[in-house]
Amino acid sequence: MYFDSHAHYTDEAFAADRESLIKSLPGEGIEGFVNIGASIAESMHAVNLAEQYPYAYAAIGVHPENAAEVTAQGIEQLRRLSEHEKVVAIGEIGLDYHYDDVPRDVQKDAFRKQLALAESTGLPVVIHDREAHGDTMDILRKHLKTGGVMHCFSGSTELAREVLDLGMYIALGGVVTYKNAVKTVEVAKTVPLDKLLLETDCPYLSPVPNRGKRNSSLNLPFTAAKIAEVRGISIAEVAARTTENAKRLFGILG
Ligand code: NI
Repeated sequence: MYFDSHAHYTDEAFAADRESLIKSLPGEGIEGFVNIGASIAESMHAVNLAEQYPYAYAAIGVHPENAAEVTAQGIEQLRRLSEHEKVVAIGEIGLDYHYDDVPRDVQKDAFRKQLALAESTGLPVVIHDREAHGDTMDILRKHLKTGGVMHCFSGSTELAREVLDLGMYIALGGVVTYKNAVKTVEVAKTVPLDKLLLETDCPYLSPVPNRGKRNSSLNLPFTAAKIAEVRGISIAEVAARTTENAKRLFGILG
């Protein structure tokens, strides 16, 4: 049974069939998923979704591209949401230097404030780091006080080592199946098996052979198969261990 540590089922890409798709997951070997918030509105939607299915959980938080939402009032809204029993993490939070729309200082401030929220609630964090490895690691080294996962990890094995040294998990998704993903395959080979999570980031980043199509948790077996192949272990072991790891990180029983 698989666990999707990072899904965006509140995305409009799922507007037409969200309910039937989510209902189909347990019958297809998907034991659970965490729906990730990227804004305050999406975080509320994630909590609503988690209320509807026993195997759905929510992460609440503001993505760096929406960093302006992280005002004192925004933090209060997130704090109230965090008290819900299906909320298992703060995220996704972090830094994104790919686009210049949001000033870096604003992103860093929002990131630090949400790490402080994680500390005060005791919840682990889901980290988004795009082309901002240095600053992301600096802030995490100083302000990370809970568990966490580096989502859609795209760095080198050296960076993976630094992330693991902070006690964090590393999540791999469809990218590991792409032809040019040399670094990511190297990470997939070497990350300790008790620190690895599977994710989709759906609707984005479908693994081969469905690359370019809408992604969903149903594609997790393709990602697991690639990781199993490069590590020389069975797909069942990848599934079992990554599911166990996700439950440990997010404090999910059973
Ligand atoms: Ni995401």
